[in-house]
Amino acid sequence: MNVVDIITKKKNREELTREELEYMVKGFTDGSIPDYQMSAFLMAIVLQGMSRENTVALTEIMRDCGDVMARSGIEGIKVDKHSTGGVGDKTTLIVAPIAAAAGVPIAKMSGRGLGFTGGTVDKMESIPGFRTAMEKEEFIRAVNERGIAVIGQTGNLAPADKKIYALRDVTGTTESLALITSSIMSKKLAAGSDAIVLDVKCGSGAFMKTLPDAEELAESMVDIGRASGKNMIAIISDMSQPLGNAVGNALEVQEAMDVLKGAGPEDIRELSLNLAGAMIAAGGIADGGADESEPSVMRGIRLAEEMLNSGRALEKFREFVEGQGGNPEIINDYRLMAQPSRSMEVRADESGYVTKVDALKIGLASQHTGAGREKKEDSIDMSAGIVLNKKVGDEVMEGELLFTAYANDADKLAKGVEEAKAAFEFGKIKAERPSLIKRVIE
Ligand code: URA
Repeated sequence: MNVVDIITKKKNREELTREELEYMVKGFTDGSIPDYQMSAFLMAIVLQGMSRENTVALTEIMRDCGDVMARSGIEGIKVDKHSTGGVGDKTTLIVAPIAAAAGVPIAKMSGRGLGFTGGTVDKMESIPGFRTAMEKEEFIRAVNERGIAVIGQTGNLAPADKKIYALRDVTGTTESLALITSSIMSKKLAAGSDAIVLDVKCGSGAFMKTLPDAEELAESMVDIGRASGKNMIAIISDMSQPLGNAVGNALEVQEAMDVLKGAGPEDIRELSLNLAGAMIAAGGIADGGADESEPSVMRGIRLAEEMLNSGRALEKFREFVEGQGGNPEIINDYRLMAQPSRSMEVRADESGYVTKVDALKIGLASQHTGAGREKKEDSIDMSAGIVLNKKVGDEVMEGELLFTAYANDADKLAKGVEEAKAAFEFGKIKAERPSLIKRVIE
């Protein structure tokens, strides 16, 4: 088989054979196919798309490239959750402890940032001492003891995705239905949970910009999961503006802790409760309520609210942080997390209403401050990012604070501020807030 012939075939929009896909994925994973040829192949997929059959084959090949975890050592119905990637999306840090507090075993493998979007693993690493790498036995023990463990893509689980993901991050090849489906579902199927809750983002700060594209992605993933015998729920949620107010690693962990304490922005709380409710329902914990006519996701949401309001989710978060080597004192003192040396406040030039806070631009602004990677080998600045004071629909007076940017480098701060300023649009008439939950596929 010849790599250039396979790239050319894809460039010409031809259907590939399973053997050709296997040759590319295995060759890149074992290092015999170099980055530049894989980049060209990935770009051809982004530009030409992929049939359902090829997408299923690619997912299966990527799943089978490494170990497939049966997770037989974990008791109960294992429920996983995955977001397709967004700006300010810190829901895992809230949803996982809520669902775990309700009794759903959380054995989750999370990702790093991709392009302008953030990643849970990077966020968790902003907690001093926190370990995101664990051997399989330790991971299973942690879930059985504490009911929750969240790790990065370690060991030999979906190694093809790990390498391809890092390459996509820096080659402009993130926005593809086939690549996102195979990336997410290969990991989720290899990780071996019984049910999967997907948060499919839709809008400028997501890889899928429109509702029909997000629906197609959600249906493609649900389809592949169900074909493998998994119970699947997908929530399509808004990503036209950032989720919550904080964008950047340590800043987002702090906002997640605010929500766990019963405060924090309303949108992040609402989405977290819906995702946790779906996980609780998929885990069978919400079954058998008094009113059987009430859908189990609704019962799950009520249980999730109980976990949040009673402080049990915050306690579970403390246990989770401590259990993975992190300093739980951050919950009481945010100054124990990485602190930026510079900040800049940006205020409104005139009074009016905020009509747009473009999520993509805020994601890029945060990346420019140092919170994201621009090259594969870049390290990220845990303390950098943007905190918004105004969102779509808010009234703003001349001189009022719009956002604050944080960085450790003057040039990066200036670049971040410039991009974030461009994200804002204003009008004289109050704009509708975009609806947060667009559709639920059960
Ligand atoms: N999350 C993933 O794990 N992979 C993608 O391709 C996008 C989001």
